[in-house]
Amino acid sequence: MKATEQLKKEHNAVKLMLLVLDKLCKKLESGERIDPDHLDSLIEFFQVFVDRCHHAKEENMLFVAMHESMKPGDGDRIGALIKDHVSGRNYIHDLATASALYRQGDSGAVNLILQSAKHYMTLLIQHIDIEDNVLYPMADERLSAQKQEELLVDFDRLEVDEIGVGKHEEFHRLIDRMRGIYLSKN
Ligand SMILES: [Fe+2]
Ligand SMILES: [Fe+2]
Repeated sequence: MKATEQLKKEHNAVKLMLLVLDKLCKKLESGERIDPDHLDSLIEFFQVFVDRCHHAKEENMLFVAMHESMKPGDGDRIGALIKDHVSGRNYIHDLATASALYRQGDSGAVNLILQSAKHYMTLLIQHIDIEDNVLYPMADERLSAQKQEELLVDFDRLEVDEIGVGKHEEFHRLIDRMRGIYLSKN
């Protein structure tokens, strides 16, 4: 497997969790209550799986490897993608604040959840699309097979350092659980 393939697989997991977040938003919009534990487990997924692991693999490893192979005509694609990571982090910070207010029964919390969640979903869907269809194909073209292998080794080390053995599997169990609850019926 190439390093870019691992990142693409992670995007599929992220997209599933964005669909779950969208379902929670729709429930809130129709006046239903949602389980705050479910919202918080999504927030933890976006903070840890997405930001601390996936975005770190890109920023500290893939983008660094690609930097040398960028050409003037490429524009500042990497800079723009890093800016998206920062914006995403801020939206999730706002979502976590809103979620805490929701637990306390704050009357404005629903609007705050909807605002930050929608900004985050829009941003990440576009961001993933650019990486899957522009940046990763560019990486596949320009990075050697050996470099891709080295990146995979670095990715594994980062996961162990950042979240420890077992946590990745725990997130996959969470994804399955959320999918079962929110995405299995219409
Ligand atoms: Fe990214
Ligand atoms: Fe990504």
